[in-house]
Amino acid sequence: MSANQPYILVLYYSRSGATATMAHQIAEGVERIAGIQARLRCVPPVSSTCEAVEPEIPEEGAIYAELDDLRDCAGLAIGSPTRFGNMAAPMKYFLDSTSNLWLNGALIDKPACAFTSSSSLHGGQESTLLTMLVPLLHHGMVFAGLPYSETELIETQAGGTPYGASHVAGARSDRQVDSSERALCAAQGKRIARLALALLSMREGA
Ligand SMILES: Cc1cc2nc3c(=O)[nH]c(=O)nc-3n(C[C@H](O)[C@H](O)[C@H](O)COP(=O)(O)O)c2cc1C
Repeated sequence: MSANQPYILVLYYSRSGATATMAHQIAEGVERIAGIQARLRCVPPVSSTCEAVEPEIPEEGAIYAELDDLRDCAGLAIGSPTRFGNMAAPMKYFLDSTSNLWLNGALIDKPACAFTSSSSLHGGQESTLLTMLVPLLHHGMVFAGLPYSETELIETQAGGTPYGASHVAGARSDRQVDSSERALCAAQGKRIARLALALLSMREGA
């Protein structure tokens, strides 16, 4: 990974691995676009036991995000499991730590997209994706969904929404990401990468 090349921050939280799998597929989509890279990062769990301290490096998966990862990105793909129709608390907790970036306008005019995994087909994926958008709009980000030119949006039997990529993991959270869901993750990665490069040119020209 070149230090100077622009990157998409693929930022996720995942407990049982589905959102992490999607994050990797979105990152692969990003990497298919020349001139931009993917940076995979996750957020740590939060605990109601205030004495609990997580190791600085997670035992598996991507390393934890730092605020600088978000500040310096050219675009953001943000993913969380659906929890009661909303993002998981650890992702909200991380976003709540971004006041300084907001004060400095660090994310203004950068593109963002969202992805999620849920157990059930109608268990709140759309509300999760749309509510993840709200804090990003406060940051001045430009939200990108998925257009219906991605034909899997119509053909899918499980996940995939115009508000962002999604996966239906099933009651036991053991259903694998299927081919339509996978294609939509890749399409989302490619799209956010293209938009990031276009908006980067726009900001540099301004
Ligand atoms: C506290 C909690 C709340 C959840 N709420 C929902 C929900 O509202 N709708 C749903 O379909 N699944 C819900 N789930 C299931 C997760 O969204 C699902 O297992 C998801 O695939 C987990 O993603 P992960 O493998 O990345 O951790 C919930 C799970 C937990 C632990």
